[in-house]
Amino acid sequence: MRPQVVVLDLGSQYTQLIARKVREQRVYATIEPYDVDPEALAERGVGALILSGGPASIYAEGAPRADARVLELGVPVLGICYGLQYLAATLGGEVARAAAREYGPATLHVPSPHALFDGVPESFAVWMSHGDRLEKLPPAFRALATSDNSPYAAVGDDARRIYGLQFHPEVTHTEHGSSILANFLFGVAGLESTWTPASFITEKAAEIEERVGDEHVVLGLSGGVDSSVLVSLLHRAVGDRVHAIFVDNGLMREGEVDEIERVFQGELGIPLAVARAGELFLNKLEGVADPEEKRRVIGHTFIDVFVAEAEKVGGRVKFLAQGTLYPDRIESRSVKGPSDTIKTHHNVGGLPEELPFELLEPLAELFKDEVRAVGRELGLPEKIVGRHPFPGPGLAVRCIGEVTPEKLAMLRRADAVLREEISEAGVYDEIAQALAVLLSVKSVGVMGDERTYEHVCALRCVTTADFMTADWYRMCHKLMAKISSRITNEVAGVNRVVYDVTSKPPATVEWE
Ligand code: XMP
Repeated sequence: MRPQVVVLDLGSQYTQLIARKVREQRVYATIEPYDVDPEALAERGVGALILSGGPASIYAEGAPRADARVLELGVPVLGICYGLQYLAATLGGEVARAAAREYGPATLHVPSPHALFDGVPESFAVWMSHGDRLEKLPPAFRALATSDNSPYAAVGDDARRIYGLQFHPEVTHTEHGSSILANFLFGVAGLESTWTPASFITEKAAEIEERVGDEHVVLGLSGGVDSSVLVSLLHRAVGDRVHAIFVDNGLMREGEVDEIERVFQGELGIPLAVARAGELFLNKLEGVADPEEKRRVIGHTFIDVFVAEAEKVGGRVKFLAQGTLYPDRIESRSVKGPSDTIKTHHNVGGLPEELPFELLEPLAELFKDEVRAVGRELGLPEKIVGRHPFPGPGLAVRCIGEVTPEKLAMLRRADAVLREEISEAGVYDEIAQALAVLLSVKSVGVMGDERTYEHVCALRCVTTADFMTADWYRMCHKLMAKISSRITNEVAGVNRVVYDVTSKPPATVEWE
């Protein structure tokens, strides 16, 4: 699909947020590295450009600078923060180090009406985060708004439709930020809201149909949102020539395998092959206590089982569909360094490249919330579309130490109680992920008149937007008490429940 807006990534932590905010206006935006080839952009065609912010100082050595020809494409440009400074430095203005870094709220004053500020008040709060500031306007530019600290909080050249904002319209702390972005997209650039779940489904289904032709497609269904949406979309596009394989690794939650079969085969009428391989997985996991080793064993076993199941479809399968999402593949040459491998999780369940299939990744343009919207449009039930993520290695990484059938049974029950209770209390959607962890330590307790020496169960509920960072969920004490009491009463082998009050970082969401 052709993007209507390209966001050039100059290193801002908010680059993805800008793209998402544009998409919320139902305009399709993609992110490109700042040094994208302008000719490639021109060839592809684009309706408007947004230059992100970034932490660099524009005159510093190595500061990211886009090829100036991107400003000559004849399409409207909006530079945000560092993006504005890049515009100024490139088009003949001047940028200087401000005496004090301006960080936090500021008041914006819009002295006279302008298309960019249509429908917003004359003064309102915006969010600033910059060290450098614009000292001299480039020729043909004029000030459109000021702040107490700067006469050039918003600037523009109406003839060329190039604008710059010193503040961040994409963050929630900026009042009317969405209106300003909408004004740029619709009022200035004349774009239309065509990016809707329904239009995505129609276009993607046609694209898939054309690419797949008469061939067959396999995919691994996990029951999570992404693979569920993937299989529904493919089923819409190529009908029964999609072969969904669900590998029951014996590490799923209580009732989950049955529920997935019921929803897909029953409610949605999508054929599903279930490979019941729980015993195989548990045998392979015997004696394995190290978290990364568990992931490796589970990953390899998954591939073996999946491939054997795919072979049953016969030699007709040409494609493998995967639920890769947009944030997984944004290529950014901005300032971020290569990050350490903390966990190898994104490889788990990933299939080796040398498999004899062509890869289909029809969700690769979507953010997670868009996948959910597409799922709803496809008629997937809310219990699938709105569900918390669940890791590929399943309960294995929540059973600290060696995974045994006994420990799994305890964990499964405790996890079911937790999920039941947060749903019952109506807080499931306030929590991004809720999990129970069975610790390998035992502690002393007393039940009746007896001393007990049993397992500790930790509960972890987090809130987060993107799972890169997370905070612990402030659960009401009454609910905590109810869950704790139910677990110690109903789960034989657990005599103590603790609640995890650590954010990420320094902890991670999962315990392993
Ligand atoms: P962490 O523990 O890294 O988790 O803070 C962030 C998100 O990733 C999920 N996660 C995994 N998902 N395979 C997966 O498919 C894994 O091995 C894995 N480990 C963590 C975790 O549940 C959370 O949503």
